Amino acid sequence: MLILGIESSCDETAVALVENGKTVVGSLVHSQIDTHKVFGGVVPEVAAREHLKYIDPLMRELLEKSGKTIQDVDAIAVTQGPGLIGALLVGISYAKALASATEKPLIPINHVHAHVHGALLGVEESHDNLFPLLALVVSGGHTNLYYMARPNTFELIAYSIDDACGESFDKVAKLFKLGYPGGPIVEKTASTGKIDRFEMPKMMNDASKMLFSYSGLKTHMVNLRHRLRDTLTQTDIADLCAGFQNEALGQIVRKLKSASRSYPNAKSILISGGVAANQQFRKLTNQQLSLPVFFPDLRYCSDNAAMIAALAYHEFIAARDEEHKFSFYNWDAFSRYQF
Ligand code: KG4
Ligand code: ZN
Repeated sequence: MLILGIESSCDETAVALVENGKTVVGSLVHSQIDTHKVFGGVVPEVAAREHLKYIDPLMRELLEKSGKTIQDVDAIAVTQGPGLIGALLVGISYAKALASATEKPLIPINHVHAHVHGALLGVEESHDNLFPLLALVVSGGHTNLYYMARPNTFELIAYSIDDACGESFDKVAKLFKLGYPGGPIVEKTASTGKIDRFEMPKMMNDASKMLFSYSGLKTHMVNLRHRLRDTLTQTDIADLCAGFQNEALGQIVRKLKSASRSYPNAKSILISGGVAANQQFRKLTNQQLSLPVFFPDLRYCSDNAAMIAALAYHEFIAARDEEHKFSFYNWDAFSRYQF
């Protein structure tokens, strides 16, 4: 079954064709990072206008490069939310028009849940050997841990009570004026630093608390920055980033260990979202976790449409008999909050 995925929730316009929820036939992403860089973060109105400019040319390019026509597609999937409302509406309106004109089912997809499927793309292992599993989505907006009995069921078992993990990387980068987006730059800066020169608070260290927290760690970094004020050197910044990164990721590893104890029938762990691109994170989890851990290929860590089409396949299979569920007029966008 061939599904066309469309993603426009934030600052990436993306389209993809995925076969049977697993094999990527084609995937294109237009990133707006350079456009938003000058503002130090994503400007919602600008993001929506950029999506408008790129979505149709990108779709035509995808079909041409994959040697497919829209008639080859069995269903269309689009990010319903969460995201920036103006940005979401561009993808949703486009997808609704396409579904209406071609009389194809249109599957609304939760962006955060879809990230999990980024880690399953191209994995040959049978689902029977992977599920039930623990799935972590760690991005600029979320630090969510799910227990998944099946590919389309998401039981939220831990989340951040304040900042998201990726957001804290972005804030630390801003604090030291390292650039945007912060994650990759903090990782690079940390690679030459010492992790134990500055003591970091152990966040949510109580194993029984299935929650994440990043604001205390961020405040600690602000205080250290203030203490070093005029004497701050490049070595200090590298050591501070290394200590910060070690605890930001260490907190997650601790929670994954306790979740594996609480859910002993989990057979594997999937880690996805922008922060999953962090190489130190991959090293730590491989060293410290006993269950097999799967990370997405780097191109499917950040926002993309292949993950949207992959989750849609499982939603579609699960609800095949509910005839009207995927009619395009039956649903609408939800932004950061569900109405
Ligand atoms: O999933 P994503 O592309 O977008 C959403 O937030 O949905 O994630 C972006 C986040 C940003 O906060 C970025 O700084 C972080 O992922 N990130 C990283 C790395 N690459 C991206 N954080 C730590 N290390 C990285 N290498
Ligand atoms: Zn995302």
